[in-house]
Order: sequence, then C-alpha cells, then structure tokens
Amino acid sequence: MSNGKPIGIFDSGIGGLTVLKEIFRELPNESTIYLGDTARVPYGIRSPETVTRYSFENTRFLFSKDIKVLVIACNTASSVSLEAIKNSVSIPVVGVIEPGAKAAVSSTRNKKVGVIGTEATIRSNSYTQAIKSIDKDIEVFSLPCPLFVPLVEEGWTDGSIAEIIADTYLMDIKYKGIDTLVLGCTHYPLLKKVLSKVMGEKVNLIDSAIETAKEIRTVLKSLSLLRTDTGDVIRNFYVTDSPERFVKVGEKFLGEKIEYIKKIELDTEA
Ligand code: DGL
Repeated sequence: MSNGKPIGIFDSGIGGLTVLKEIFRELPNESTIYLGDTARVPYGIRSPETVTRYSFENTRFLFSKDIKVLVIACNTASSVSLEAIKNSVSIPVVGVIEPGAKAAVSSTRNKKVGVIGTEATIRSNSYTQAIKSIDKDIEVFSLPCPLFVPLVEEGWTDGSIAEIIADTYLMDIKYKGIDTLVLGCTHYPLLKKVLSKVMGEKVNLIDSAIETAKEIRTVLKSLSLLRTDTGDVIRNFYVTDSPERFVKVGEKFLGEKIEYIKKIELDTEA
C-alpha cells in the first residue's frame, strides 16, 4: 500500500478548512488535497439532487489526484450524498455526520441533544438518524441557522450582532433542556464563543471537525494507510472560483498561510 498518497477533502467552499485544520493537527505527517467548490457555494440551500451531483463532480476531481481516503468535510454534502459516494468508490470515505453524532451520544447525560446546521442538513434528518441509531432514547431537537454562514464569512464571529442572531435562533432550543449541542455545519466552530455564551456553560458544544479528524486517523490506522515515511508533506488547495477571497478568509480559518492554490474547472459532463 502506498500510504504516502494524500488525503482528499472537499467542501462547498471555505468552511471545510475548519475540518482541514483539525486534520493538520491530528495527522501532521499526511499530505492533503483540499477542494473548495467556491463557485457554487452555498450548498446548504440547495436540493439533495443538486448537492449530490456537485459531490460526485468534486469526488471525480479528487480521484484524479490519486487520494487514499476521501473526506466530505461539508455537513450538507455528507448529509445527502455520503452513502451514494461510498457506494461508488473503492477507497474509504469519511463524512462529518457520524463522528459528530457519536460524540454527542457520549456527551449527553440527560439524553437531550440539540443539532444546528444548514437548512439542507436539518431537512435531511441525518444527525437525528445517526444519533438515534446509536441510542434511540435520545431526544433530538434540530434547528436550521442559515444566517450563521454569511456571518462567519464576513468575519463577524463575536460581538453584539453575532450574539443577537445566535440568541434569536437558539431561543427555541435553549429551553428544551438540552445538555449537548452539535455544531452541524463547517462554519459554526468559529462561533463557539458566542454559542457558548448564549447556551450557557452547562451545554457541551460538539465540534464535528475535531471528531472527524480523529475518525480519519482511526480509519487510516485500521487499513494500515497511515503514512510512515518522513517525506515532504504536500498541502495543496483547489478552488472553482478565483482564489483571492479564499486565501484571505481561508488563512483566517486555518490560522496559517495557504501557499499552493489553483483555480480549476470541474468536469460536469459525466
Ligand atoms: N459547508 C456547509 C455545511 O457544512 C456550509 C456552507 C454551505 O451552505 O455550503 O453544511
């Protein structure tokens, strides 16, 4: 097995960098190829059919880079297309829903869990199903929070505007007595401070990004695909729209410089 091959990751745009950051932390030795479909973001407001089509196109591109594992970093794409992608490829595929759901189940003491995400993620019921498949007695309260994505993209991750919006959205869920809240969207980990303030310290926030990075390590290890040599680590980025904004906002998400980035055209013919 050539375990020096890169890990392929795709997201609808910049948000998946929260997952990539955790991959860098968890697996610093591994090379990565990140694809951000910036020309077609956001996925969270689109139909499952459209998101699935986009996911297949992203997968085909990453396959051309000879990856050893595919990570669907986008919660929306994981919610609606993970199974179809898994069934169509011969390498392991890791999504963000199951790792987040597992962590939520281990976290909750009172069996009341909240889930927030994009409209498409919440509509798909993916988190509720994943949580209930582990423990059917857990009550799940889910809520779409669509404004959080543009808020984070604007860099308004704290301060009064973020707090008012979070407070308004979370009002309903806050009084359900949940002790665990799943941040079911790539962008939400950047709002942790505000969300924690609004929900109160007793509510445990689950960051799917951290859980997903751990899951990738587990999958690679179980298949003996962890990189063992100490060759150069490649960290390449591809986007479907011009790279300028991605680099500017992305470096903030990632907390480090984006050195290699290229705009590509996806093959939409198949
Ligand atoms: N990446 C998406 C998610 O995690 C958020 C942005 C979008 O709507 O495309 O659901």
